[in-house]
Amino acid sequence: MKALQRKTVGFIGAGTMGQALMRGLIARGLRPRALIASDPRGAMRRRVGRLRVRTTASNCEIACEADLIILAVKPQEVFSVLEEVGECVHKRQLVISIAAGVTRAALQARLPGMPLVRVMPNLPATVGQGFAAYALGRYASARHRAMIETVFNAVGVSVELPERLLDAVTAVSGSGPAYLFYLAQVLEEAGRRLGLPRRVAEQAVRHTLLGGATLLVGEDTSAEAWMRRVASKRGTTEAALRHFARRGVKGHLIEGVRAAARRSKELSCRFC
Ligand SMILES: NC(=O)c1ccc[n+]([C@@H]2O[C@H](COP(=O)([O-])OP(=O)(O)OC[C@H]3O[C@@H](n4cnc5c(N)ncnc54)[C@H](OP(=O)(O)O)[C@@H]3O)[C@@H](O)[C@H]2O)c1
Repeated sequence: MKALQRKTVGFIGAGTMGQALMRGLIARGLRPRALIASDPRGAMRRRVGRLRVRTTASNCEIACEADLIILAVKPQEVFSVLEEVGECVHKRQLVISIAAGVTRAALQARLPGMPLVRVMPNLPATVGQGFAAYALGRYASARHRAMIETVFNAVGVSVELPERLLDAVTAVSGSGPAYLFYLAQVLEEAGRRLGLPRRVAEQAVRHTLLGGATLLVGEDTSAEAWMRRVASKRGTTEAALRHFARRGVKGHLIEGVRAAARRSKELSCRFC
């Protein structure tokens, strides 16, 4: 938390991601009063208020007071927010956008000379297991990098990347949780078709995914090596894996992820 000492962190938008970051920072020891959040919805402000975070309906108040301004509104709201607060922001602040598809160039054009960062987080940030990739703007420094890492490491892990790779990150880790939920749904259905009661199928799948993910992140062993440890020669797992290989399942999944990356690029063009 050293990088955020004596800093005020402001959130414009206090929905799912904004609240996840606030909770993470507080859990890591930041004083709730060092946070301030704006949201048009009274219900959201009350929820955040219960964390003892200061709240306001005015985005300009955040822009005037915060050292870090986190734009946590939907992408289509970002530019109207910047228009609203553009007069109040100054170059000693850092603007952080987590809006999917909103490029650094588009942000910088509206915030000339300002230090800014574009970040692509993901939904597991809400349970402290997020992955975020970030690209610093041209006026952001090493000091700003330390602040970004402090914020996003409070809800998982973060890495710096060239901005051109953020479409790939969006496709892999941004959309990734949905692929896992898709796999869960498919496995649950397979279990039910094989005769398992619904509740048992759900439990079996959820605990298997959690256990598998825990093994994967817990040791420096590749996913392929773990697969080999489960799949003994001519055993049950190998029968399934061979079937997937014959039917080209891997290729279809990779094409799906590529489609997500293409869509991310298309959406970025919309927000230029
Ligand atoms: N959720 C994810 O998995 C995820 C992953 C990666 C990136 N992101 C990015 O994170 C950003 C926030 O997503 P989210 O899921 O947290 O959205 P969310 O839950 O809808 O939160 C956004 C909040 O901002 C409020 N808001 C709308 N207009 C505003 C304004 N002009 N000023 C201040 N607040 C305003 C919204 O109120 P209303 O509901 O009344 O509009 C809502 O409470 C998005 O840009 C998204 O691309 C999200």
